[in-house]
Amino acid sequence: MRFIVTAGPTREHLDPVRFLSNPSTGRMGFAVARAARAAGHDVTLIAGPVALRTPPGVRRVDVVSARDMLAAVLAELKADLRHPTCLVMTAAVADWRPARCAKTKLKKGEMSDTLKLVRNPDILKTINRSIRRATTGVPPVAPIRIGFAAETGVPDAEAARKCREKGLDLVVGNDVTRPDSGFGTSTNRVTLVTPDGRTQRLPLMSKLAVARRIVAFAERIASNG
Ligand code: CTP
Repeated sequence: MRFIVTAGPTREHLDPVRFLSNPSTGRMGFAVARAARAAGHDVTLIAGPVALRTPPGVRRVDVVSARDMLAAVLAELKADLRHPTCLVMTAAVADWRPARCAKTKLKKGEMSDTLKLVRNPDILKTINRSIRRATTGVPPVAPIRIGFAAETGVPDAEAARKCREKGLDLVVGNDVTRPDSGFGTSTNRVTLVTPDGRTQRLPLMSKLAVARRIVAFAERIASNG
């Protein structure tokens, strides 16, 4: 199977030296890429700005902003419509960007106290729309879609909402305020939520162990057709 994995934060620049972002380090996504490759899959990792080494055998595409990440995901999906594909969106995509991005550094005197923001596209929802539109010829097999829900508090209800609203096959929810499951940790304590409403709380595990569960889940869906 083919895995497309997004990882890390996105950066939304307001000038060449300032941006909006979040504390994601990309460790969960890199673990998914490593686990998928180790299981023999073809893996493309679309990474926001992170300081991690590419796992061996994985093809990496670097991006900066949410719009770059959307373009890279769409290009990867379109590049091969024949093979079963699983998209794993671990990236912490910035939902907003500054309305304007200056080409040169803004001087303090040129900046106002308020920053005008505009909404970024939702990558998963955009992909759902493009799957629905793909009706000519032999319809491509829709990719398996796995998302994450990073919440401040018990993630179950929000993970279930995101599973429904984003048409996902699996949502991996976690509470990022916990010291063992937040940004940059090597472990994660996650809840798996499926579209049938089932919720499975997993114990504390390494991110690589969580990644192996995600890969095994995708393999099960692919083999059930
Ligand atoms: N995601 C996405 N495009 C965005 C934002 C998020 O595809 N613009 C994906 C994330 O990669 C993740 C899932 O959607 O797999 C849930 O992301 P999250 O940030 O938890 O949720 P939001 O959609 O931003 O919703 P909310 O702001 O209500 O928490």
